[in-house]
Amino acid sequence: MPFSKIIGSGSALPSNIVSNDVLSQQLAAKGIETSDEWIVSRTGIKQRYIAADDVKTSDLAFEAAQKAIADSGIDAAEIDLIILATSTPDYIFPSTACLVQSKLGIAGAAAFDVQAVCSGFVYALTTADSYIRAGNAKCALVIGAETFSRIIDWNDRGTCVLFGDGAGAFVLKASDEPGILATQLNADGSLHTILHTAGGVQHGQVVGDPFLRMDGQAVFKTAVTSLEASALSVCAKAGIAPETIDWFVPHQANVRIINSLGRKLGLDEDRIVVTVDKHANTSAASVPLAFDAARKDGRIQAGQKVLLQGVGGGFTWGSVLVQI
Ligand code: ACO
Repeated sequence: MPFSKIIGSGSALPSNIVSNDVLSQQLAAKGIETSDEWIVSRTGIKQRYIAADDVKTSDLAFEAAQKAIADSGIDAAEIDLIILATSTPDYIFPSTACLVQSKLGIAGAAAFDVQAVCSGFVYALTTADSYIRAGNAKCALVIGAETFSRIIDWNDRGTCVLFGDGAGAFVLKASDEPGILATQLNADGSLHTILHTAGGVQHGQVVGDPFLRMDGQAVFKTAVTSLEASALSVCAKAGIAPETIDWFVPHQANVRIINSLGRKLGLDEDRIVVTVDKHANTSAASVPLAFDAARKDGRIQAGQKVLLQGVGGGFTWGSVLVQI
């Protein structure tokens, strides 16, 4: 059975950067108090990218996909599978994956979205890997793309300081050389209320709450516990000791969660990719955005072993261990 090898990556960020100081001023104008000091000390976030109203999730996804395709050197027509992870699709339907396929000017390949919130990219990557290993696809485009700024309650200081918009993409190809070594996905739906956007549309009306709500402390504790177990499980499947991993690319929600996990896994900070300071939490886009940044600046190199991890609403979590 072939491996799935990552042969290209790309990312996209909106042009508008909002620093903690600017966000604090915007909130102060509405009588809501926060500060750069509070946000940095609790989360490590210093700024976020926010999409303009006319920039859709599919636009960011398309830009990231184009860059990943160019980086891989393939012809877009070779892509026979597109999986896009998002919780902020352009439409209820069609899927954002189909919209990206149209923007790329290719047709025929299977294209669909997966919805696992901040775990979405590792869910999408694991699904694409399964297709390739089973011989059902040879060249997959896997994208994580979000405009979370659209589902944030900008009057809730407990959540609005945490998120940003962006997209990241991988091109995966069937290969005889090692690529994705092991994967592990989990969910516990009984925890759906600790992080949710429990609204929808019925008969043309918004029903329920259209904004993201979170029990921050419950998310923090569940994320650390579940991700440690997931990392140990995926490493055991691959027969690799966690401390021998070259790079850890975790979901970028909070630097305190990231560092706590690094310590539990015996990974020094200089082997952990952190972009949450610049990107904030971009949900399904955070892992491919961080991976692409570290690959393009030369930290992640061919032959190295990289652990990718996602965690988020559902509650969902997962790990992908890959040899580059
Ligand atoms: N600025 C200033 N004060 C704030 C802000 C803010 N932006 N937000 C909340 N506060 C206040 C609260 O009102 C509260 O005030 P009170 O004591 O007067 O009531 C106080 O700060 C403490 O609030 P907590 O919610 O208990 O703050 P906590 O220390 O838990 O930090 C945080 C909140 C950063 C969200 C933390 O719980 C956390 O990191 N959780 C992890 C969740 C996470 O990262 N989620 C991201 C999305 S989920 C995912 O991607 C997996």
